[in-house]
Amino acid sequence: MRRVTYWGFAWSVTERRVERQIHNDTGMNDSMEYTTLGRTGLKTSVAGLGCGGPSRLGMRNDSRSEKNAVALVRQALDLGINFLDTAESYGTEAVVGKAVAGVARDRFIISTKKTLLSPHHSNIEGEVKKGLEQSLKLLGTDYIDVYHLHGVEPKDYDFARDRLMPVMRRLREQGKIKFIGVTEGFVQDPSHQMLQQGLREDLWDVVMVGFNLLNPSARGSVFPMTQEKRVGVLNMFAVRRALSQPDRLKVILTDLRHAGVIPKNAMKGQDLIDFVLRESDATTLPEIAYRFCRHERGVDLVLTGTGNPEHLRANVEAILKPPLPGIVLQKLEEVFGDLDHLTGN
Ligand SMILES: NC(=O)c1ccc[n+]([C@@H]2O[C@H](COP(=O)([O-])OP(=O)(O)OC[C@H]3O[C@@H](n4cnc5c(N)ncnc54)[C@H](OP(=O)(O)O)[C@@H]3O)[C@@H](O)[C@H]2O)c1
Repeated sequence: MRRVTYWGFAWSVTERRVERQIHNDTGMNDSMEYTTLGRTGLKTSVAGLGCGGPSRLGMRNDSRSEKNAVALVRQALDLGINFLDTAESYGTEAVVGKAVAGVARDRFIISTKKTLLSPHHSNIEGEVKKGLEQSLKLLGTDYIDVYHLHGVEPKDYDFARDRLMPVMRRLREQGKIKFIGVTEGFVQDPSHQMLQQGLREDLWDVVMVGFNLLNPSARGSVFPMTQEKRVGVLNMFAVRRALSQPDRLKVILTDLRHAGVIPKNAMKGQDLIDFVLRESDATTLPEIAYRFCRHERGVDLVLTGTGNPEHLRANVEAILKPPLPGIVLQKLEEVFGDLDHLTGN
């Protein structure tokens, strides 16, 4: 993995193109920051609402909580978030559809995803079209801003490119999709092999990448290519379990030390957590994790996934805070900078 120094990082922060705007006519909110999603030209909030992940808007373990989930999406819109990420497989497209009903269509960006089919499916084109029509219906819209292939692993890539991409292109020609994206299967592919191939071929307008302080490898292997080709970058896995539950992080650090993949003298779990909180103005580990991602050169938007309105408020606040101090970034780089196998689960 190519190592990028902290000083390179610091320089990138000042280069970042962020537009803080107040545009009542576009639905932008003066308490949010907006940026341009690569070559799509879409003006997106720097925080996006993830409607999947372990929480699925709070619906993963409680499917009766649809009303709360709709309220959470509306809370996100009120906070100035205009980017809503869902998927055919999450079971949250209908919730998003209900939450945005009555909101002018140009005030929010819908990102959704097609689950991969078997290469042996008898009607691949029909199945992709059927999936898209169902998503459009549930979301209550006649177009998707960014339509992704979902969780493409290296072994799926040729099939995705050769058989699914042409169908998506035809749907784009019909105006049902504005931009085509791909999301990686970060758990199976934490060193981004699929994206490295996909970006070399330059077929995708937007990519969704796993990036967090435990596995910053996209910095060397993905972001240089996305920036060169102006591909929009959505950051997933900013927090997950390891960075929302300090006890989980402590276990991971102990395992890493025993495996000899981090320096033997690296700080122990609680000491590291105490250090990053003491040396910064952050008050929680999730805040550290979101701020780490938000100010990474190459990340356009950080997705936050939650079922908890208070977490959503705090996470947006964190994403809008300044970069972490250099001493904290340096320490995180010393401990985790060379890792490319963790996910944060
Ligand atoms: N391959 C793919 O396409 C793919 C894979 C994974 C994710 N995604 C997308 O990326 C989005 C973001 O990923 P993610 O949902 O895993 O998000 P995340 O923001 O990295 O982590 C979410 C987890 O952290 C917890 N959490 C969030 N804020 C917290 C806080 N302030 N304090 C304590 N716990 C907190 C949540 O629980 P609570 O509900 O309790 O807050 C949830 O368990 C997903 O929603 C999905 O849209 C895509």
